[in-house]
Amino acid sequence: MKKILIANWKMNLNEEQCLELAFQLQKRFKKISEVEVAVAPSFVYLKDVRAILAKSKIKLAGQNVAPCVGGSCTGEISAAMLKSQGCSFAIVGHADRRRELNETDEMINKKINQSLNAGLTPILCVGETFAEKSSGSTDAVLVKQLHSALEKVNGLPENEVIVAYEPVWAIGTGTYLSAAELILPYKTIKRTISSLYSEKFYEEKVRFVYGGSVNGMIAKDYWSLDFLQGIFVGAAGLDIEEFYNIAIEAEN
Ligand code: PGA
Repeated sequence: MKKILIANWKMNLNEEQCLELAFQLQKRFKKISEVEVAVAPSFVYLKDVRAILAKSKIKLAGQNVAPCVGGSCTGEISAAMLKSQGCSFAIVGHADRRRELNETDEMINKKINQSLNAGLTPILCVGETFAEKSSGSTDAVLVKQLHSALEKVNGLPENEVIVAYEPVWAIGTGTYLSAAELILPYKTIKRTISSLYSEKFYEEKVRFVYGGSVNGMIAKDYWSLDFLQGIFVGAAGLDIEEFYNIAIEAEN
C-alpha cells in the first residue's frame, strides 16, 4: 500500500484562504508521486476545493461523517453526501471531536460503518491523553478505542482502513513522538487489529499513520519507517511550504 500524507484543515481558513491554499497545492504538488496526498477542508468549501484540485492527484477527506444513514439527522453530513462531493476518505473520531463534542466510541463505530457502506475509507483517529500516558494506560486505551471502533463492522475485513495514532498530548503542542516511540503503539495497534480480524487483514488493508506536531524537519524520520504508512498533520497542512517540505521528504 502506498504511504499517505493527510492534512486536516480543521475549522481554519476563510473562503479566500482555503481556495488559495487549494490552488497552491495543485501547483506545488505536481511532482509529488511517492505518497498519496489527501486534504480535509471544511465541508462548506469541499465543492470549490474539489474543482481546484480536479486536475491533480490530491484526494479529499471529510473532517467528520454522520453516524446515521440519512433523513432525521439534522446538521450532519452523510457518508453518501461526502462521496458525492468527491471525498475518498472520512476522518472519524478525531481527538478534537472526542474532547469538544463528546464523541463516543459508539458513535465512532457507527461512523466507521457508514463510511465503509458508502465506499469511503475511514481514517480512524486513536490516541491517549497525557493523564492516560502518565498512568501507564496507553496500551489499554488504544485497545479499547480500536475494539469499540472496529468490532462488528460491515465492510471489514474486505475494505481498507487507515488508523491514525495521534496522542492527544502531541496534537498542536510542538511535542512529537520519536520514531522509536512509535514502536510500542504500532505493536499494540497491529496486535489488536490482527486479533479482531487477521494479520493478513492488517498487512494488506490497514495503513498505520502518525499524527501530532509533525513538521518538515522531522518528516524524513517517519517516512523511513517500514511499519509506518503515513503522516497526519494539522497546523503544518495550513502552510504550503511546510506541507510541501513534509511531502518532498518522501520523494528523496
Ligand atoms: P498538529 O495536529 O499537526 O497541528 O499537531 C494534528 C491533528 O490535529 O491531528
